Amino acid sequence: MNANRRNFIKTGGLVLSGMLAGANLASGFIPMEAHITDSEDIYTLPSLGYAYNALEPHIDAQTMEIHHTKHHQSYITKLNAAMSKEPSLKAKSLEQLLSSIQSLPESVRNDVRNHGGGHWNHSFFWTIIGPLKKKPSENLSAAIVNDFGSMEAFKEQFLKKSMGIFGSGWCWLIVDAKGKLSISTSPNQDNPIMDIAEINGKPILGIDVWEHAYYLNYQNRRADYLKAFWNIVNWQKVSEEYES
Ligand SMILES: [Fe+2]
Repeated sequence: MNANRRNFIKTGGLVLSGMLAGANLASGFIPMEAHITDSEDIYTLPSLGYAYNALEPHIDAQTMEIHHTKHHQSYITKLNAAMSKEPSLKAKSLEQLLSSIQSLPESVRNDVRNHGGGHWNHSFFWTIIGPLKKKPSENLSAAIVNDFGSMEAFKEQFLKKSMGIFGSGWCWLIVDAKGKLSISTSPNQDNPIMDIAEINGKPILGIDVWEHAYYLNYQNRRADYLKAFWNIVNWQKVSEEYES
């Protein structure tokens, strides 16, 4: 994992922890982009940390490569273009921008929502999937049983919610302000850290339910993709997100 990616995720955790606790950002917090000058593109494509074929047969290599290098890159390119219109926003972290969509200048509001959301969502997604075969931590397992009844019941509810998304969007497992796990969905590239989200919380798991995430291999069989997802979840990372 490269330094940018580590910082990206770490920064997100700090901001979200503060948000959920109702606290301001810790003093001394330095947004990761603060050192960037106005003339630079401040967002770059993070590496996956594993090969494009590492998730086969559940997600094929071509889908992963196109998803990463074309779709994710496109969000980044368009987000950078938006940032060039409002250089003062470059001092803020992406999480800060996404958690204050409503107060952003109108000139960039929709671009930050759509392309900033797309960049955050995909950067997060690459980390919570992978070839690592691990189980949820004891703490996370206990929370899932407590809040959903059982792991099977959780997966069933997650599948039902994911299948219910009309068009493109994401399904999330989040920790809400009370520390309880719940499942939420968001349209397009919205996510639960946005101030405009129907349900706010800290995402610890999420699945991309855009057709570009699965169509080459699964075509219209969304349910098959959603069921295969459980074979590639990086539970170690999800557990770390839960416990951080
Ligand atoms: Fe995607």
